[in-house]
Amino acid sequence: MNIQDIERLRAELDALKCKTEKEVEEARVRFLGKKGEITALFDEFRTVAPELKREFGRTLNELKQSAQEKITALKDAVADAPGAKASGLDLSMPGDPLPMGSRHPVSIVREEIVSIFRKFGYDVAEGPEVEDDYHVFEALNFPPNHPARDMQDTFFVSAGHPNPLLLRTHTSSVQVRAMETMNLPIRVICPGRVFRNEAISARAHCIFHQVEGLYIDEGVTFSDLKQAILLFAREMFGPDTQIRMRPSYFPFTEPSAEVDVSCNICHGKGCNICKGTGWLEILGCGMVDPNVLEASGIDSKKYSGFAFGMGIERIAMLKWQVNDLRHYFENDLRFLGEFASAPEV
Ligand code: PHE
Repeated sequence: MNIQDIERLRAELDALKCKTEKEVEEARVRFLGKKGEITALFDEFRTVAPELKREFGRTLNELKQSAQEKITALKDAVADAPGAKASGLDLSMPGDPLPMGSRHPVSIVREEIVSIFRKFGYDVAEGPEVEDDYHVFEALNFPPNHPARDMQDTFFVSAGHPNPLLLRTHTSSVQVRAMETMNLPIRVICPGRVFRNEAISARAHCIFHQVEGLYIDEGVTFSDLKQAILLFAREMFGPDTQIRMRPSYFPFTEPSAEVDVSCNICHGKGCNICKGTGWLEILGCGMVDPNVLEASGIDSKKYSGFAFGMGIERIAMLKWQVNDLRHYFENDLRFLGEFASAPEV
């Protein structure tokens, strides 16, 4: 060992530059590690002549100390260097924003309808989408050869059976299940998905959603039905809304009616949404046919009731004037994003 070795290492240390933490660590190992050059000099120190030990010892210790200081300084420098954080994990960086989802327009309208009827004291009932013929047709007074049972309208899951399984064509089947299982009086609404074998177009789809309602008690009359529908229409479309009822036919209600609301776009003057009539059709309804009550074991002499049913997409179309049904099923994010700020109900 000689003093030049020490001077050489000092000069190298002074000139040392590091850009990354890895380089600093490599330098530390090279100079101060177990097999490092400065460590090696300390090993050699044992062989130094006794009269030189004092001077060598002091210089060596100074070298080691300044090496440690230099390594610490380099470590701090690379940690503070601009761009150093980008290569590693910087927990102070703001996160990548995730786009917020929004509720589907059908869900928004369903919840709005459900919340209105909940305020009127209706419970919500659900039932299977794959139903049997009995609950969709038979118990609802559909004659055996009624065209609605036809292959044209109904998707059959198992045909050729006396009580075939099928995809429900309306949620009236849930009302039958409610009549079979719930105690009287009954006040339920049945929201859900229904299926009909229709060619898909702007005005028809093979899947859509309904909310149907049923109220059965002693002494329920047609005027109760009219009042319930009027209150619903005013909650849904605004306090000035008028309704009108047109006679209609459903196998499970007698008398039956179709209900129109006054057009909330032109306020009765006539526009292209209401096709110049000033009225928009929103639902079908009627007094539950006594045959339907009896089929579910309800005494039709003592009890009476009303039922109604509406299509959720139809109400959504009126609410937002989106007049192509297919939009509701294609899940195009450009369409769904239009409802991002629809208010919570
Ligand atoms: N179930 C009928 C339909 O799907 C709607 C309706 C329900 C009509 C209740 C009258 C009473 O078209």
